[in-house]
Amino acid sequence: MDQAPDLIVRAERNAVIITFNRPKKKNAVPARHYNLIIDTLAQAAVDKNIALVVITGNGDYFTSGNDFSLEGLQGIDQASSSDGTHSPSGFQRFIQALIDFPKPLIAVVNGPAVGVGVTMLGLCDVVYASDRATFHTPFVTLGLVPEGCSSYLFPRIMGYGKAAEMLMFGHKMTALEAYHYGLVTQVFPDECLKDVWPRIFAWAQYSPKVLSSIKKLMRSHQMQILQEINIKENACLQERMMDPEVYQNIVNMLSRKSKL
Ligand code: COA
Repeated sequence: MDQAPDLIVRAERNAVIITFNRPKKKNAVPARHYNLIIDTLAQAAVDKNIALVVITGNGDYFTSGNDFSLEGLQGIDQASSSDGTHSPSGFQRFIQALIDFPKPLIAVVNGPAVGVGVTMLGLCDVVYASDRATFHTPFVTLGLVPEGCSSYLFPRIMGYGKAAEMLMFGHKMTALEAYHYGLVTQVFPDECLKDVWPRIFAWAQYSPKVLSSIKKLMRSHQMQILQEINIKENACLQERMMDPEVYQNIVNMLSRKSKL
């Protein structure tokens, strides 16, 4: 019997649903998934029947962030500078694809989110979360830096101090706290999270053209700055990844049992 793919992409009633599906790995995102998501968003952007895209997860986690195992890092294309030019990494292009996506992007956060699973939410238009979800960016313990334009967007969404607690010191937010600080649009008792789907499919019947026009008005003034922030964050991330301490931190994290 065919196994379900570990990233499920399906179109249903004018919506495209992207589902992280590696529950045994807490939906950690391997490098190869970034290209798949970039392609999916590019196709959804030009498909005149598609009104919106939803990102969600299967199992107990939304996602535990970048898959830092050897398997997960396979196929990663680093920013290259061999010919003196700098081409963006797959991860940077993934964030750029979220920035550029012209139609509504909805996150249905079914459980805990870690790392990029949290930072990408600032680039989503609507974020629904289970009350089981938590939001954790343990960059400092790994020696890493924020991505997903969170260094710019989070202070604006939640206020500077709360963003600093989270991005600098790895403060883990509950779903209610994330709602209170504007990262999450609505929190649902876990057993009621499924109630978001009829709502989302009803919204997917609205005109894609009109939804795109509304999103353009709401987001276009930020496009240039977000692009610059993405480049800066990724340059800093590449620099941090070269630090042998970071490598050691990641090895330690993967070999620990209770990791966070
Ligand atoms: N990268 C690679 N593997 C990951 C992973 C990640 N980000 N997150 C989870 N996994 C793997 C674990 O290594 C483990 O693999 P194994 O079964 O082969 O040992 C499996 O997923 C299950 O995780 P486990 O740690 O046993 O579950 P847990 O419930 O005790 O803890 C987490 C879950 C998410 C708290 C923990 O796995 C963790 O801290 N992961 C790292 C998260 C992280 O730092 N992300 C990057 C932030 S910048």
